[in-house]
Amino acid sequence: MMGVPFEARPFAINWHFLRQTKEVMDKEVIKVRGGNRLCGKVHISGAKNSVLKLMAASILADGTSTITNVPNISDVHMMAEVLEHLGAHVSPLQNGRLSIDASKVEPKETPYDLVNKLRASIAVLGPLLARFGEATVSMPGGCLIGSRSINMHLDGLASLGVTNELVRGNIVARTKLGTLNGANVRLPFASVGATENLMLAATRAQGITTIENAAREPEIVDLANFLIQMGVNIVGAGSPTICVYGAECILPVQEYKTVGDRIEAGTYLVAGALTGGPITVTGVCPQHLLMPLRKLREFGCHCECSDDGVDNSSITIRGIDLKEGSTRLKPTDIQTLPYPGFPTDLQPQFMVLAAIANGSSVITENVFENRFMFANELNRMGAEISIEGHHALIKGVRNLSGAPVEASDLRAGAGLLLAGLVAEGTSIVNKIGHIDRGYEQIVDRLAALGADIERLTL
Ligand code: UD1
Repeated sequence: MMGVPFEARPFAINWHFLRQTKEVMDKEVIKVRGGNRLCGKVHISGAKNSVLKLMAASILADGTSTITNVPNISDVHMMAEVLEHLGAHVSPLQNGRLSIDASKVEPKETPYDLVNKLRASIAVLGPLLARFGEATVSMPGGCLIGSRSINMHLDGLASLGVTNELVRGNIVARTKLGTLNGANVRLPFASVGATENLMLAATRAQGITTIENAAREPEIVDLANFLIQMGVNIVGAGSPTICVYGAECILPVQEYKTVGDRIEAGTYLVAGALTGGPITVTGVCPQHLLMPLRKLREFGCHCECSDDGVDNSSITIRGIDLKEGSTRLKPTDIQTLPYPGFPTDLQPQFMVLAAIANGSSVITENVFENRFMFANELNRMGAEISIEGHHALIKGVRNLSGAPVEASDLRAGAGLLLAGLVAEGTSIVNKIGHIDRGYEQIVDRLAALGADIERLTL
């Protein structure tokens, strides 16, 4: 039976959504038959990793903020649930437009069920502290890509005058007299989440907060621009030092367009690299993909960018034409690093390129300690990958073969779909609820590019 595409389902913000996600996990699969050459255009959605934080930021203001270019993905629905749980009213998502009325938000506990499903819900900690001087958020557990502690969030907040204690699995955070004090915070690692939570908390602090060794991702700049529209003065976002000048009054945002998703764009570029292309991605800024583009060229692909402002920008990739059988991708070493280094969120997808390259590549994972679970699934499709600590040694093979495989997380799921596109025969990807978390209409978009792919309910 054909599965109903995730994004065609009715938008319902209630606890039923958690069960719906589980049903997708248990009963739906994506079937891919490899061998087709993909070509055409794909318009990239707004960035998941940005919009979730913009949604959290909207609860800083007593009023309605509107965000556009919002992807219809399950993580957005889950964040909407988190905000509704806190008392916000979130409008149905229509044509990428979402309005959040935060006038009735209260600093209620954000429960384990939600934090466990959506780690990014920890981003409500900073705004709740800023607005109410208190917050209770369930402590996130580890996940399949690593232990993912939040010590840097809590240590940074402590510098701003926040005390916290762990009560029955919840972080109960408070400020003295309800206000935070601006401070200098130096992060031991350029953590994206810690930088964001500190920026959000500092919006109402008394005085200036300086975050050193801050994360520099485009999503950090997007959050800063959103906060600037809320009336907060922020300087330095995108550099290692960010200054946030605490504001007395924070206003809702009339309309803000989310930055394009560089990871989604990178995923489609790999599809072009693997199958020959040409594939053109639009709606994303080529500057945000400099390192992945450099690596695609090292693999032997031809990439062309036109950067006429985000709305008119495009990247076109022409891969090695594998069907011609004459040339293969070149092996390439990659190490993941915080931006502007190579993104860990594209590591599994690029591992597929290395898996069929003509020679050996080494991929070094420096951001998450456990992000090589994907390699085992790829080996089930005939890849030759061995793991030593945080290094993966990939001996390129001529062909992958289709197999039943299981997505262990969002990006691993995308990597398996990509592998299925070039594998001989049919692959069945299980646990696709992970893929729905971050890719809008991925089956339809790949099919429109020429892939033989369908979503099935078992
Ligand atoms: C965000 C992204 C994720 C991306 C990652 C790195 C979202 C929703 N997710 O995750 O897709 O892969 O950035 O680009 O935006 N760490 C600590 N203590 C902390 C915080 C982090 O030890 O307090 C460690 C983590 O375990 C990890 C590393 O630092 O090993 C990077 O984490 P971080 O940059 O914070 O990633 P996230 O914000 O969780």
